[in-house]
Amino acid sequence: LRLSFVHRAMKQQVWSSQHHLQCQASFKVAILGAAGGIGQPLSLLIKMSPLVSTLHLYDIANVKGVAADLSHCNTPSQVLDFTGTSELANSLKGVDVVVIPAGVPRKPGMTRDDLFNINANIVKTLVEAVADNCPGAFIHIISNPVNSTVPIAAEVLKQKGVYDPKKLFGVTTLDVVRANTFVSQKKNLKLIDVDVPVVGGHAGITILPLLSKTRPSVTFTDEEVNDLTVRIQNAGTEVVEAKAGAGSATLSMAYAAARFVESSLRALDGDGDVYECSFVQSDLIDDIPFFASRVKLGKKGVEALISSELQGLTEYEQKALEALKHELKASIEKGVKYAQKQA
Ligand code: NAD
Ligand code: LMR
Repeated sequence: LRLSFVHRAMKQQVWSSQHHLQCQASFKVAILGAAGGIGQPLSLLIKMSPLVSTLHLYDIANVKGVAADLSHCNTPSQVLDFTGTSELANSLKGVDVVVIPAGVPRKPGMTRDDLFNINANIVKTLVEAVADNCPGAFIHIISNPVNSTVPIAAEVLKQKGVYDPKKLFGVTTLDVVRANTFVSQKKNLKLIDVDVPVVGGHAGITILPLLSKTRPSVTFTDEEVNDLTVRIQNAGTEVVEAKAGAGSATLSMAYAAARFVESSLRALDGDGDVYECSFVQSDLIDDIPFFASRVKLGKKGVEALISSELQGLTEYEQKALEALKHELKASIEKGVKYAQKQA
């Protein structure tokens, strides 16, 4: 870990553009929930990736038009559409990365956990199909509540006998994207330089930005730390309230998810220097089986959990870490119990 993560990110960009000129990678990506608020802009961003040969768009309705529209973009990947459960299996055959933004979003006044009753079953059904049709794929779960839907997915994969904890990811990239944006605004830093790790989970106080580990090194007053932490934790709600009943973050989420897909594809393509924060099976915190931290990505998924950023925390961060454990553990257990009961 000699290079700073910022330098790694810059190196990744240079490496990746040089690499793209030299060879054409050809990965297949499937998006389940592709006609939705996240699904559509995410599909567009992935259509722009030089690493993708085929883009499979699946939804229960309205996906034909989205696919026809996207297919006119003169980027190399081929776009195929799949509608309804009868076409779900085919949408997953031969796929390297499956992204799941299917499910209902929040309205003002709701918590992410209020989505559990509807989204738990959607994620369960979709992951069963993933297990049957592309068990070796990286699985990116966006559907909320992520703190419970990822454990549900893990249980379903275990029940099907194909669980590989290194390949199941809760997408928390939006928390990092927000943290980087808000910190750079507050401290007048160039955005490209800023990198804030965000750990824990993806709901309220379980979202824990480690501001003391910001790259480049920055000093914050106690008030700035508190303001930034609370804003990052409530950023999803900020968008839900601004949209006033019309849904939650879609564009920034699509941007964040596309970054996570691109990082996964670079890792699959052999780049040995890819790091992202993600909510994954983890042994970094006692008694909390899933935890978001920075991870090193490789061809086989998570190559390493980066524990160093959890050392030397400030008193504020240490207290916030203690405070999130109860809620995070309960949300994980809720997901596990749900999946076991359905089995
Ligand atoms: P949306 O309602 O606009 O779109 C959801 C899509 O899912 C729709 O097109 C719908 O037809 C589809 N869908 C529903 N059931 C399905 C099924 N069984 N199979 C396939 N597709 C199905 O919602 P959205 O704004 O795109 O949000 C989707 C989810 O993402 C929500 O649960 C939201 O809370 C979550 N989200 C997560 C993050 C994050 O950081 N992880 C950020 C934003 C939103
Ligand atoms: C977000 O962080 O924007 C998402 O989890 C959506 C939400 O409900 O806030």
